[in-house]
Formats: sequence, structure tokens, C-alpha cells
Amino acid sequence: MKVPFIDLQRIYHRIEKDINSAVSELFASQRWILGPEVERLEKAFSDYIGVEGAVGVASGTDALLLSLRAQALSRYDRQFFCRDEYIITTPFTFVATAEAIIRSGATPLLVDIGEDFNISVSEIERAVSSYRNVVGILPVHLYGCPADMGAIMEIAKRYDLFVVEDCAQAFGAMISGRYAGSFGDHGAFSFFPTKILPGIGDGGMVACRNRALCDILKALRNHGGIDKYNIEYIGYNSRLDSIQAAAIGLYLKHVKEFIRERQRVARMYIAGLSDVKDLILPKDRDTHVFNLFTLRLRGSLDRDRICQHLNNKSIGVGVYYPVLLNEMRGIKDYIVVAGDLRQAVRASKEVLSLPIFPYMKNEEVEYVVDVLRGVIRS
Ligand SMILES: Cc1ncc(COP(=O)(O)O)c(C=O)c1O
Repeated sequence: MKVPFIDLQRIYHRIEKDINSAVSELFASQRWILGPEVERLEKAFSDYIGVEGAVGVASGTDALLLSLRAQALSRYDRQFFCRDEYIITTPFTFVATAEAIIRSGATPLLVDIGEDFNISVSEIERAVSSYRNVVGILPVHLYGCPADMGAIMEIAKRYDLFVVEDCAQAFGAMISGRYAGSFGDHGAFSFFPTKILPGIGDGGMVACRNRALCDILKALRNHGGIDKYNIEYIGYNSRLDSIQAAAIGLYLKHVKEFIRERQRVARMYIAGLSDVKDLILPKDRDTHVFNLFTLRLRGSLDRDRICQHLNNKSIGVGVYYPVLLNEMRGIKDYIVVAGDLRQAVRASKEVLSLPIFPYMKNEEVEYVVDVLRGVIRS
């Protein structure tokens, strides 16, 4: 048997007919950028997440960057942050998180993570009280597991900090009955095709707490102006394409089922592997949407050997993330580390992600479980 890390064909079949007719309509209209498709998606998205408004942009990376720029503009009446202003985030995430902070002018201040791989609330608290110039917090809901937003928002309120949630991997994840992305000033989402709510190329969305922030975002994504000649800010070409919005809107209709499907696979893995010594599995929580199913290999379990064996048995696996942000050559000089990153270093050596995607067959999950159990025993 062959089990890919992800198979996008299986969800594509859910929208195949509808997307073909949506694309035909777009060809007929020759309207490719923004337009009614994007407006419809923004409305459906903000209704779903439960926020005042949402603004479609060209990628999840831009969703982060434009959110930060909007905070600099709305809170400080400045286009960019300064190098000596810190935004607290995690070292254990995709590079885009830190890249967006650096491009907004600020410095990422990295603090350690907890057992669930998300940023540690006590480390945020420690960093805020040790560094004078902290302006905001950027938690990442890693792998689809929501960060502790109640505690993070409490700290933000106490110290008057803004919060941008990196929801790239966590569309639909919930905390105390509320969706990730609805707690902070902004939630930044990615429609990269492997995400929970995928596009058919690059795309992103910013969930906004209020209309004024939506207006700033709409200007920023369109060269900084409401129209071509009324340029208010240094902006970007970061518009969402109509064809993306049409496809994402169709996937949005099925996304609850996609999430249930991922949770089904995760539960099968947990049931099949929970008795294996030295495997630490993610917690089965209704609120975890399992963009990735990531476990820890403890003790004598050799990750390279296990990955190699799974690959030899035609099973796709991934390691997210083997390198911390502060170890990346091109950006490390623009980053400050607060305290030690012991948990993050450990996670980077221990994590392994197994195949997970909607409509993965029971036999496929069972095969992965059997092969993994076998290599660990040997
Ligand atoms: C945690 C995280 N943040 C940001 C991004 C950036 O999203 P995009 O690839 O849409 O720019 C990703 C994408 O993989 C991500 O995983």
C-alpha cells in the first residue's frame, strides 16, 4: 500500500462540478481580481469565525504582515514599527511568522513553548515584564491546536498590547466555544492548498475586530490607497484573486466535514498508538482541527531511522519543524531570544508528523499504525 502525506484530490472531488461552472462564469466575465467573489467570501468568512469583518489578501504571510502594519497605523499612527519594538512569538513555527514581524519593522522576541507545542503563557508573562518595549503578541495555533487565548488576552489587556493570531494551520479550531482568530485584534489565515480550508493556489484572509481595521487592510492590500491616486500608506499588491475566492467559498461549505474527517483519523491514530512506549501523542480535543498529526519520539527512538523506514514502506511523513527561527541564517540577526528555549529545542528534535487528510481510508490509517509499531519494536 502507498499512503501519501496528503492527497488533495480527495477533497477536490467534493467541489469538482461547482468549481468548473464557477470558473466558466469567471472566464465569461473576465473579472479576475477582487470583485463580488471576494466580497462574498469575506462576508461568509467573517460570519463563520464570528468577527466584525474579514479582508482577503494574497497569502497567509501577507495576512500576518498586513495585520501588523494595520496595528502600527491604528495604534501608533506610524507606517512601520521600529527595530527596538518587540513582538513576542514562538521559535517553533513556520518562518513566515517571524518574517512578517521583521518586515513590519519590529523585532521578534522569542519565548519558549509548552507541552502542546504552543507558546508558553508563563514565558510570555516573563518576557513582557523583562523587556520594556513589547508592543504585541503573535501566538501561533500550531498544527491546528489552539493556543491558550484566554490567558494570552488577559496579559495583552493588562500590558496594553495588541494580539495577532497566526491561524494559518487552525481554521475552525475553537477555544471555549469561540473560533481561533476571533480573540485578537486580527486573525491571520492561509489558504495554502494543504491547509484546513484550502485554496487552489496562494491566498490568505485577515479577520478584523472592527470596521476601521478592515478599511486600513483594504487600502494596504491595494497599494495603500482607497483608489489609485488617493494613496494613504506604503502598500502592497496583495489582492485575492476571484478564482481563489470562488474555490475557497465552495470548500467553506464542506469545511466542517473536512475537520470531522481529520479528527476521525487523529482518533484512530491515538487509539492505535497510545500504548506504544516512548511515543507521546497529541491530546484528543474536539477543538483541535489536526492540520498536522504530530507526535513526539522520546527515549531511544531514532527519528531518522523511523522516517526512512516509513518512506521505504511508501508512507509520506514530515518534520515540522527541525530548525528553530533563531537558528535560521538569513533572519537570526533580526531576532531576540528571551530566556532559554529548552522545550522548543527538544520539540525540534522529537517531532514527527504522520499522514492526515480528509477521506483518508481506515485501511490507510491502520497500515501507518502497523508499520510504525513494527519499526519501533524492531
Ligand atoms: C504557522 C504558519 N504561519 C504562516 C504561514 C504562511 O502562510 P502562506 O503560505 O499562505 O503564506 C504558514 C504556511 O504554511 C504557517 O504554517
